[in-house]
Amino acid sequence: MSDTDTLWQAIESAAPTRLTDLFDAEPDRLERLTVEEAGLYFDFSKTHLDARLIDRFVELAEAQDLAGKREALFAGEAVNASEGRAAEHMAQRGQGAPDSVALANALHMRMRALIDAIEAGALGEIRHILHLGIGGSALGPDFVIDALGREDPAYDVAVVSNVDGVALEGPFHLFDPEYTLVVIASKSFTTAETMLNAESTVQWLRNAGIADPYGQMVALTAEPDKAVDFGIDETRVLPFPETVGGRYSLWSSIGFPIALALGWEAFEQLLEGAAAMDRHFRLADWRDNAPVIAAFTDLYYTQARGAETRAVFPYDERLRLLAPYLQQLEMESNGKASDRATAAIVWGGVGTDAQHAVFQLLHQGTHLVPAEFVAVAEAGDHRDPAHHEQLLVNCFAQGSALMTGRASDDADRNFPGDRPSSTILIETLDPASLGALLAFYEHRTFANAALLGINPFDQFGVELGKDIARAIADDEDALTLDPSTRALIDRAL
Ligand code: F6P
Repeated sequence: MSDTDTLWQAIESAAPTRLTDLFDAEPDRLERLTVEEAGLYFDFSKTHLDARLIDRFVELAEAQDLAGKREALFAGEAVNASEGRAAEHMAQRGQGAPDSVALANALHMRMRALIDAIEAGALGEIRHILHLGIGGSALGPDFVIDALGREDPAYDVAVVSNVDGVALEGPFHLFDPEYTLVVIASKSFTTAETMLNAESTVQWLRNAGIADPYGQMVALTAEPDKAVDFGIDETRVLPFPETVGGRYSLWSSIGFPIALALGWEAFEQLLEGAAAMDRHFRLADWRDNAPVIAAFTDLYYTQARGAETRAVFPYDERLRLLAPYLQQLEMESNGKASDRATAAIVWGGVGTDAQHAVFQLLHQGTHLVPAEFVAVAEAGDHRDPAHHEQLLVNCFAQGSALMTGRASDDADRNFPGDRPSSTILIETLDPASLGALLAFYEHRTFANAALLGINPFDQFGVELGKDIARAIADDEDALTLDPSTRALIDRAL
């Protein structure tokens, strides 16, 4: 049996202690299981990680050479082995191999120059930004702009990802074509959904009498030639390196709408916040390393306790798009074949709304669901303190209730408690703290993968469905389909 197998066995066979008893048994628990970094306070103390389990996980980190894998990641080695590529999203924020950092800086400067030109009126008056992209080419920009761009927005921004034409109807109705900048974001510049949405948008501009629709378009891509072939002038094609994965790409030119809508300074602060978390992940001991401890909790619940899901509840309306963003980051990265359970299914909702919809199951249901609360300590000037206080009170009460429970002889009213949660408290929600939060999630995902021995940077699982869709659309003669699918096609297509 390998060291790794022995350690997993020790982790899986450790008898769990009740959370409330852990606080009694370990007086320094709160101090040991909280980390403060880059404007974020992480509290993992309401999880079942005890001193012994942490020792085993630290040994597992050594046995799986987490340090070596982390160095390979930052050094720009080909850590994405199946595609023979590096994963260099950190270089976009100045952390990594010097050549990659220099290239990222040069491409950022190109992006900044285009933003300056747009702001100086080079493309005429721009009031609206229509961003077309899907998956990693949409979720990051959508989340960041929704979180930070609520006060006095300089532009109306719409992010359209779905190939359902209904998704385009909203911006087509609301935006004036003459004043709309269309951004086509696609790493490959071949994704069917984005290409069809782009073509329909060209048509929309044409129908409005715009003589040169491509003149109002910007492309964000790792395949600049394809964007030029599509019709976009090279000066408005913002490339990013092939080594930046789609779900890790908001730091690259995919972040163009963020930088345009929130301003260059905000974009730089976003990158700097992420860089602070990169340095923390790279330098902190495993026991004080927020992404690594978070990965220990994830692995403990999926491997030792059979949890199949984890739930994320931001108690802040501005973070309402966090769960969809994390779904791609964690499930596309780590939802991989392995002889161990891999990524948990990520789900969630916004507090307090989620309390009135799904929390019944968390408190009394039969599933074990580790919950993660994300809240912002400062209300911010523009927010009503009374609302904010109630929001935080609710957030903290839920974590406490899940852990302590309340015994009753009446089974219907009995709360068993001992249900784990972690909390991330953001001091102030600003570009830097949001950048740090997102980088925390990236590194947690990486640490999970490293400890499981899987590659988080490929996504072959999404290809089969795409192939079959293509074959159905092309009506390929050789296509053999099951009777159920054939009947659906006959009915609807
Ligand atoms: O669904 C698979 C995927 O390749 C994602 O990884 C990616 O973020 C998305 O499609 C969009 O790809 P692209 O940016 O190439 O259009």
